[in-house]
Amino acid sequence: MPAQGNYIKRNNLLQISASELDAFHEFIESEYQFKLKWYNSASSERRLRKTIKNLQLNSLTDLQASLQKGSISFQRFLSEFTVNVTQVFREPGSLKALKTNVLPFYRKAKELDILLIGSSYGAELATLCIILKENGLLERSKIVASDICESVLKEAQRPVLQKTDFSEGQQNYLLAGGYRELDYYFLGAGSQAYLDESLLEKVEFKTFDVCHTQLEERFDLVICKNVLIYFQYDEQHHLINNLSRHMKDNAFLALGEKESILRLQKLNDTFSLVTREYNIYRKN
Ligand SMILES: C[S@@+](CC[C@H](N)C(=O)[O-])C[C@H]1O[C@@H](n2cnc3c(N)ncnc32)[C@H](O)[C@@H]1O
Repeated sequence: MPAQGNYIKRNNLLQISASELDAFHEFIESEYQFKLKWYNSASSERRLRKTIKNLQLNSLTDLQASLQKGSISFQRFLSEFTVNVTQVFREPGSLKALKTNVLPFYRKAKELDILLIGSSYGAELATLCIILKENGLLERSKIVASDICESVLKEAQRPVLQKTDFSEGQQNYLLAGGYRELDYYFLGAGSQAYLDESLLEKVEFKTFDVCHTQLEERFDLVICKNVLIYFQYDEQHHLINNLSRHMKDNAFLALGEKESILRLQKLNDTFSLVTREYNIYRKN
């Protein structure tokens, strides 16, 4: 949307001026090393407006002042700013592709190191653990489940399935090649059920920002779904480079169904395509 004078107009309630936005980007990067300016500008401004409203502030300048004073923590800001929508057995076609194109390589491996990025509330972690279990790999896997946002990551430690999400979850589980009732893995009656804790024994939880290289470990499989879509396309090669630094040679990278990196020319030497339809790549 075009800037109008010094202001970027989105609605009649709250305007964010271009200079206010620049100052906020700089502040947030220098204070928290958070690359807010790499995020897709339209959705990022929408989220900023929602954050300001939810925190009962009047402007972006107010938000900056509250962060500076410490009356709002950076993590509180992140919990408002980030989009945490998720679902068990989301994108079943891509899960099936993972089973067919990736897991067989590790059938005889001693260990499988997996980094799950943007775990959100844990539905994707539950999905991954079930898939590994059904493919005889869970006991040999070491999973690092991560998110930039500490509050969702805390919830991911106890993945929950709402009864209202059950029927779609079951349908997607079957589409992904599952062969029993999904509630076999979830315990508890009533409106929600929790993932059987024994499936989480191989999981460690770490905060991780996809914009930085922070972890010492190198992984055989990096899963980063529905995170890149929030970033500007031009910045995505930085993110993929960061991911690549966390990958062993010949490791796999599974992205979301809408997150092709094929047009990122600079990456052509780093990755080979495994499936075009489901955005699975392999590090050369
Ligand atoms: C839309 S959710 C996707 C959840 C899950 N991967 C899925 O596909 O269902 C995006 C997640 O990415 C996280 N996220 C946003 N920015 C991030 C960043 N810079 N580094 C790591 N995670 C980030 C958010 O906190 C959120 O939990």
